[in-house]
Amino acid sequence: MDMINMKFAQGGSTVSVEVPAGTTLLEAAHSNGIALEGACEGSLACSTCHVVLEQATYDAVLASQAVADEENDMLETAFGLTATSRLGCQVIATEKLQGASVRIPSNTRNTA
Ligand code: FES
Repeated sequence: MDMINMKFAQGGSTVSVEVPAGTTLLEAAHSNGIALEGACEGSLACSTCHVVLEQATYDAVLASQAVADEENDMLETAFGLTATSRLGCQVIATEKLQGASVRIPSNTRNTA
């Protein structure tokens, strides 16, 4: 199985992780003890799994993993929304994320 290496940056610290391709970013964080919330467990009913991608990564991921309307609706409720924000439970680790740095915002807004 292909393994994807990436980093999670949170509150000034960065953790490198290696996860199997096909893992969501939410699962990748949780399986590595990284505090990314995920209050609705990936059912697109919250924005607590909000992550921020670098522009190049965002563009590369978007080419094969479009932002669904439901994801957009939830993102609009996210704390600290940026132009390269995604929901961690909706983005799947693929080659496009190889070497990427994923930032976890310092706050979440849980409306679930
Ligand atoms: Fe709730 Fe991702 S965990 S939308």
